[in-house]
Amino acid sequence: MKLEIQNISKKYNKEKYGLKDFSMTIEKGILGLLGPNGAGKSTLLKMIATVSKPSNGTILLNKNNITKDANYIRKQLGFLPQDFGVYPNLNAYEFLEYMAAMKGVGGKNLQPRITQLLEGLNLIDAAKKPIGSYSGGMKQRVGIAQALINSPKILIFDEPTVGLDPEERVRFRNLISDLANNCIVILSSHIVSDIDTIADQVAILKNGSLIVKGHQENIIRKVQDKVYETKITKEDYTAFKNSHIIVSTTRKNGDLIVRYISEKPDNNAIKQQANLEDAYLYLTKTN
Ligand SMILES: Nc1ncnc2c1ncn2[C@@H]1O[C@H](COP(=O)(O)OP(=O)(O)OP(=O)(O)O)[C@@H](O)[C@H]1O
Ligand SMILES: [Mg+2]
Repeated sequence: MKLEIQNISKKYNKEKYGLKDFSMTIEKGILGLLGPNGAGKSTLLKMIATVSKPSNGTILLNKNNITKDANYIRKQLGFLPQDFGVYPNLNAYEFLEYMAAMKGVGGKNLQPRITQLLEGLNLIDAAKKPIGSYSGGMKQRVGIAQALINSPKILIFDEPTVGLDPEERVRFRNLISDLANNCIVILSSHIVSDIDTIADQVAILKNGSLIVKGHQENIIRKVQDKVYETKITKEDYTAFKNSHIIVSTTRKNGDLIVRYISEKPDNNAIKQQANLEDAYLYLTKTN
C-alpha cells in the first residue's frame, strides 16, 4: 500500500488556499495528522477520500491516479468525515445495514460483522434504539462503525475522538491498533495525546503546508534539550509567557510551575524529558 500526494493545492477562492503545494507519501500503518484549527487537515482528508477535488496536483494510490479514477480508492475506503451526520430515525443496526448496502457489502458475513463492530464500539446495548436518542459520543461511535463496515484497506478518520470519554478513547485506540496491520490508517486530531500512543508516524500541518512528517522519536528529537520546568510567581507570569513557549502551567502553593520550551534554561530551571506535545507546540509556534 502506498499513497502518494503530489503537489496538491486546494484553492477555495481568490486568496484562500486550504492547502498549498502539499506533498507527502503515506505507507501502511497509522499516520496521525496534527495541526491547529484551519491547518488544512480536513481539506487534505476530503481530497484523499475523493469527496473534494484538488485544484492542482495528483494523488496516487498504488500508482493509480485517484484524482482521475476515484473508484479505485472508493472501493477500498472507509471514511469518517468531521461533520458526519446520521439518520436519526434508524437504529444502529439499521443504519449499518443501510451503509453496507450503499457500499455493496452483503452476504452471510454481514450480520456477524455488524454485531462485532457494535460490540467493539460498545454500542450493543443501545443498538435497537433510534440513533436520534444517542449521546454525541455514541453517534460518533456509530460513525466509526460505518467507516469500518466494508473492511477497508484505507481508513480515514477526521477527528474520530471528538466527544468520546476517556474510556471510549482507549477502546477506539485498541480497535484501530488491531485493524492497522495491512492497512493505511490516517487519523486527524488536535489533541496530541489521542494519537501519540497509536500513531506509527506523525505529520504536523499548519496554514495549508506540511511542517514535518516522520516517526515520533525523530519529531520529538527536535525539542530535545529545549524543554524545562521552573517555578515562577503569579506576578511574573505575563512577562514569562510573552517571552517563552509555554506547554503547561500548574498551581502549587500560590506559585506556578511552568513547563516551557526554550533554547537555553533560565535560572533554576530543570530540564525535562521531551514529548510529542512539546514538539507539536514548538513546531507550530515557530513555523
Ligand atoms: N468550503 C470552504 N470554503 C472556503 N474556505 C474553506 C472551506 N473549507 C475550508 N476552508 C478554509 O481552508 C482552511 C483549512 O480548513 P480545514 O477545514 O481543512 O482545516 P482543519 O485543519 O481541518 O481545521 P479544524 O481543526 O478546525 O477541523 C481554513 O482556513 C478554512 O477556513
Ligand atoms: Mg478539520
